[in-house]
Amino acid sequence: MGVEVRVEGLSKSFGSQLIWGDVSLTLPAGEICVMLGPSGTGKSVFLKTLIGLLKPDKGHVHIEGVDIATCSERQLYEVRKLFGVLFQDGAMFGSMNLYDNVAFPLREHTKKSESEVRSIVMEKMEMVGLVGAERKLPGEISGGMRKRAGLARALVLEPEILLFDEPDSGLDPVRTAFLNQLIIDLNEMTQATCLIVTHDINTARTVPDNIGLLYHRHLAMFGPREMLLSSEEPVVRQFLNAQRIGPIGMSEEKDADELAAEADQELPPLPPIPIQQLPSSGVLRPTQRPPGQWCADNGVTPPPGSFASDVVTTQ
Ligand SMILES: Nc1ncnc2c1ncn2[C@@H]1O[C@H](COP(=O)(O)OP(=O)(O)OP(=O)(O)O)[C@@H](O)[C@H]1O
Ligand SMILES: [Mg+2]
Repeated sequence: MGVEVRVEGLSKSFGSQLIWGDVSLTLPAGEICVMLGPSGTGKSVFLKTLIGLLKPDKGHVHIEGVDIATCSERQLYEVRKLFGVLFQDGAMFGSMNLYDNVAFPLREHTKKSESEVRSIVMEKMEMVGLVGAERKLPGEISGGMRKRAGLARALVLEPEILLFDEPDSGLDPVRTAFLNQLIIDLNEMTQATCLIVTHDINTARTVPDNIGLLYHRHLAMFGPREMLLSSEEPVVRQFLNAQRIGPIGMSEEKDADELAAEADQELPPLPPIPIQQLPSSGVLRPTQRPPGQWCADNGVTPPPGSFASDVVTTQ
């Protein structure tokens, strides 16, 4: 069963540069969340702060009664075992073959015999479609294969919390669709709490239970998928619909002149909210809400055409 991650008033700076401040959100146990944000807004820094690789300046990260921000190294070592992390660059050891890379956490953190290690490693390699590539070095395979090897390694300790830093960057659309399905199926199977950082709007619109958006040194919004997809808040609306009109410019915020020039342009209507992608079993995951439920519960009228089966994107 996944565990809840409760973030309270978190701030992180490097020197005098504030990356983000006062971030509060809860990753609900067993749910899938996506974190969006323009490049450089500190999404990777956020993931690293959640696992205690970076210390925040202020705030708390509560996981199973431990505050990652203030706990001892000993406690941190224990809490880290709850996590499986797929880093942005795969973070493979270049001199070790894929088998040894994937086996590494088991050899480091458990007392399992080599035959037990072998059966776990091969099970995960099969899950990500890498059987046959065990003896290859990370430098000898494609970026997509490295991502999948990173995913296999993230899974070997049966994590309660799975963090993915741009699992889909550098993957072709078909592989991205398979990877998304794999994450959804893994979540159904293990009920690990999942947080996916991505730039893929299609993934953000169809995969998660909740969406967050980091922008301009703060958390612009975090909440259920249908809440953000029906939101008229300008930054959320612009980002989730990949529009040029809105407060976000090519480099950070648009200036007053740019915004004034747009003021009389009509915004395109919000597109329909697609149905959330199902696991391969075809039934809702334990934490998945039926289509339209959040909107109905909150008296929000979704954009016309929402939740029609023909707006399910081709995943
Ligand atoms: N260890 C570090 N020391 C100093 N500055 C850092 C460090 N790590 C990250 N930064 C800075 O923090 C900011 C946010 O970086 P981060 O990698 O989290 O962005 P991101 O949102 O993940 O971007 P992208 O979408 O391109 O991956 C950047 O300005 C970066 O230079
Ligand atoms: Mg990043």
